[in-house]
Amino acid sequence: MTYYEKYIADSTLKFFLKNFRALMNFGEINNLIKKTSGINNFFSSQQEATELSKKIREHLSIVSEPDRREYGDFQTNKDLALQVTEYALLKRNDIEFILEPTCGKGNFILAAINQSKSLKKIVGVEIYLPYVWETKFKLLAYYLTNDDIPKPEIDIIHGNAFEFSYQELAKSTKHLKTLVIGNPPWVTNSELGSIDSNNLPEKSNFKKHSGLEAITGKGNFDIGESISLKMLKCFENHDGIFAFLIKNSVVKNLIHDQKRNGFRISESEKLNIDSKKEFNVSVNACLFLTYLNKKPDFTCKEFDFYNRKYITTFGWFKDKFVYSVKDYDQGSTIEGKSIFTWRSGVKHDCSKVMELERINGHFRNDFGQEINLEKNLVYGLLKSSDLKGDQMNTYRKSIIITQKRIGQDTKYIQDKLPLTYQYLKSNKKCFDMRKSSIYKDKPDFSIFGIGDYSFAKYKVAISGLYKSTHFTLVCPEDCKPIMLDDTCYFIGFDQLKIAQIAHYLVNSELVQKFLKSIIFLDSKRPINKDILMRIDFEKAFESSDFENAKTKIDDLKIEDWEKFGQMVRHSVSEQMTLF
Ligand SMILES: C[S@@+](CC[C@H](N)C(=O)[O-])C[C@H]1O[C@@H](n2cnc3c(N)ncnc32)[C@H](O)[C@@H]1O
Repeated sequence: MTYYEKYIADSTLKFFLKNFRALMNFGEINNLIKKTSGINNFFSSQQEATELSKKIREHLSIVSEPDRREYGDFQTNKDLALQVTEYALLKRNDIEFILEPTCGKGNFILAAINQSKSLKKIVGVEIYLPYVWETKFKLLAYYLTNDDIPKPEIDIIHGNAFEFSYQELAKSTKHLKTLVIGNPPWVTNSELGSIDSNNLPEKSNFKKHSGLEAITGKGNFDIGESISLKMLKCFENHDGIFAFLIKNSVVKNLIHDQKRNGFRISESEKLNIDSKKEFNVSVNACLFLTYLNKKPDFTCKEFDFYNRKYITTFGWFKDKFVYSVKDYDQGSTIEGKSIFTWRSGVKHDCSKVMELERINGHFRNDFGQEINLEKNLVYGLLKSSDLKGDQMNTYRKSIIITQKRIGQDTKYIQDKLPLTYQYLKSNKKCFDMRKSSIYKDKPDFSIFGIGDYSFAKYKVAISGLYKSTHFTLVCPEDCKPIMLDDTCYFIGFDQLKIAQIAHYLVNSELVQKFLKSIIFLDSKRPINKDILMRIDFEKAFESSDFENAKTKIDDLKIEDWEKFGQMVRHSVSEQMTLF
């Protein structure tokens, strides 16, 4: 108990000095504190009370602050805690019971008692003992200076949120109007599990259980999500509100899994906060607020926390999980199965050797070596960051394409292209150093993401990494197809007009609306093959008209338009896998 001295405000110190003798009897001092502040069992043993009396006598100095990051620990600043609590209490101003399952330094509890006079009971649980003391002392100081206000019963418990019996607590508080509030750790179990033991809270179980894997039985798991689930499970039948600051990804998962969990929650809100400003971290996070004890619903309204501007309503709609219910309502006419197979581009994991720049008629690799090669295997290359604008046939970099299909024997290079072979051979160690198991037992200089489709002349392409849903038409350079890297997705065509129509359709208002309604832009890879495969080209074609297409595509003939129509109507159950 060497850490709590620093939390003792002057008024608290005066209180203990006045009641110094009572510290010799922890029952007596606990009763006194309970009368003054409502806090139960302030000291859990005589030893703790005696230690404090010694410290007070010795006027001990303040101990240093531990590194909060090592506890998955981002304490909510007072101002944000006040704003969040104010918002929650605005929704329900008759809250009687407040629970903070990972209460840290207690800022939410303090914010709540400051703003509500209807509270009867408060429970805070925290794994890190110094924070438990800090919260208790702050509360004591609060009630010592505000001795005329009603005092709820308060328990600040040193415990592990995963072991604490919330089920029991839920039973004994069922009759109270409840606010479950807080900010659980924004870390994954594996991150916590790897924390050096010296930095673990004294009584933590993380180390013993080698992360939460043992507890949850799952692999990598966000602690905030698992605490949220536990709270919803225990308190869904309480009359009240749940309000947590959590990662956006956790809210997305909670609403997604609501279909399966069917928690008695409704009118959920996600209010985006600026985590850089509030916590000095670059994680997309928000306040997730939902009403408890309601008929379950499956959507969530998204707002800006600071100006309450409405952004979207996401969640389950027409049996699909969508980012914008409104846009999907219109765009869903496009939902189906793409007749064209969307592919990702070439993967080689050897950019220093395989990617080249063209300088004065010859090539230079990423090591800065100037090299002379036959042109046969060298193609233009576009990456996600290159895909700008409507149409492209230029590129910054070139790439050596060693195979036409996955696993193709590469001996032909030695026989037919001696300069290329010499270059690849002299850099073989770079290929051999590739870690991914996909290259194991494959021919020398193997690449992936390659097939007939890679050699289609025209490609309708999009970046998988960026937030834009605009598609670029990639045309060949001197009849030679341009390749895309594995951060891009594309469909390929051999005829320009057909490619132009596909390009026109995917950029049409309806398809764009559809894509924007299903893409969660703050995901790591917002645009992926699964999303693109949901574009039904037949439906997109039927919703468009030739006259409009003609204004966008030069020299478009009705025969081309009809040919495309036949193509997408033809054998809709069988996808076109040739390109
Ligand atoms: C993100 S901080 C937030 C603290 C506080 N709720 C606030 O908003 O200021 C998360 C807190 O959870 C605590 N914590 C981490 N794992 C815990 C567990 N298993 N049980 C209880 N508390 C835990 C950390 O020590 C830290 O104080």
